[in-house]
Amino acid sequence: MIKSIKKIAVMTSGGDAPGMNAAIRSVVRTCAYYQIECIGIYRGYQGMIEADFVTMTARSVNNIIHKGGTILKSARSKEFRTAEGRKKAHANLIKHNIDALVVIGGDGSFTGSVVFNNEYGFPAVGIPGTIDNDIYGTSHTLGYDTALNTAMDAIDKIRDTASSHNRLFFVEVMGRDAGFIALNVGVGAGAEEILIPEEDLGLERMLESLKKSKSSGKSSSIVVVAEGDKSGKNVYQLANYVEENMDEYEVRVSVLGHMQRGGSPSCFDRVLASRLGVKAVELLLEGKTNLMVGLQNNEVIATDLEKAIKGNNDIDMELLRVSDIMTT
Ligand code: F6P
Repeated sequence: MIKSIKKIAVMTSGGDAPGMNAAIRSVVRTCAYYQIECIGIYRGYQGMIEADFVTMTARSVNNIIHKGGTILKSARSKEFRTAEGRKKAHANLIKHNIDALVVIGGDGSFTGSVVFNNEYGFPAVGIPGTIDNDIYGTSHTLGYDTALNTAMDAIDKIRDTASSHNRLFFVEVMGRDAGFIALNVGVGAGAEEILIPEEDLGLERMLESLKKSKSSGKSSSIVVVAEGDKSGKNVYQLANYVEENMDEYEVRVSVLGHMQRGGSPSCFDRVLASRLGVKAVELLLEGKTNLMVGLQNNEVIATDLEKAIKGNNDIDMELLRVSDIMTT
């Protein structure tokens, strides 16, 4: 193993996700294992610009594997988008003898890393951390599994009250422009309809399906709506639309929001974080750079960072068909 890298910095950037702490822990402990120094950067790229650094040892990450959020904090830095900001950041890394970076975040964070690498040739490896699961090169991003379970638990509770009052609920879930959370949670929570950005089936079809379900004897229903859905109506407008066109239902709306980003990571996310952290450090020690570590068929693999940013993580259309059959 080439050991020219003596000091690695780790940071979390963009929207936080459950499992980020477990990934920080993994990076720090892998550095300790290989006897190289590790620095934590607070608040992502903004902390890099402000030299907001902390020395991390194996003991700095005790008792964080189960915690949501990120002990290193996160930020979306406008200043890092400027050449001047990146120059300051680079000067700080050099001043502190940092040789390489592990960036835990989503595609915005990886774009920053690629630009930085193009300008300064600074070695970096990315760990995909976002609840949206919208990154090419991994079947699962960190935090996605936990967010699915958080949203599903919430919808289970909504089902209780929906059923008591014979109501129809529209539940909006996060996911930015992707429908992974909506589709999987919709199937897992037994939703009547699932609206995702990847497939706009039209409002007429939704009405038809709700009418059919009412006449088949169902007294309450859940429609899961991805925040990025392309129906042209937001979740409140969708609810009004149904109420105007169907007397049969009393309709309510619930927007789950940022609660989906919090909470203790699932076992799956903790194990994933631990595996990806080890691989990220080992790749850097092997002299590799501009890669993202991810999971494919339960194997940890590396993907070119630019590919990870530009590629599409395709939604499983078969799951939509399964959902249709389940609503019979
Ligand atoms: O990318 C994670 C995410 O939670 C998206 O699902 C959501 O669209 C966005 O971030 C919300 O961002 P903010 O925390 O800035 O409101």
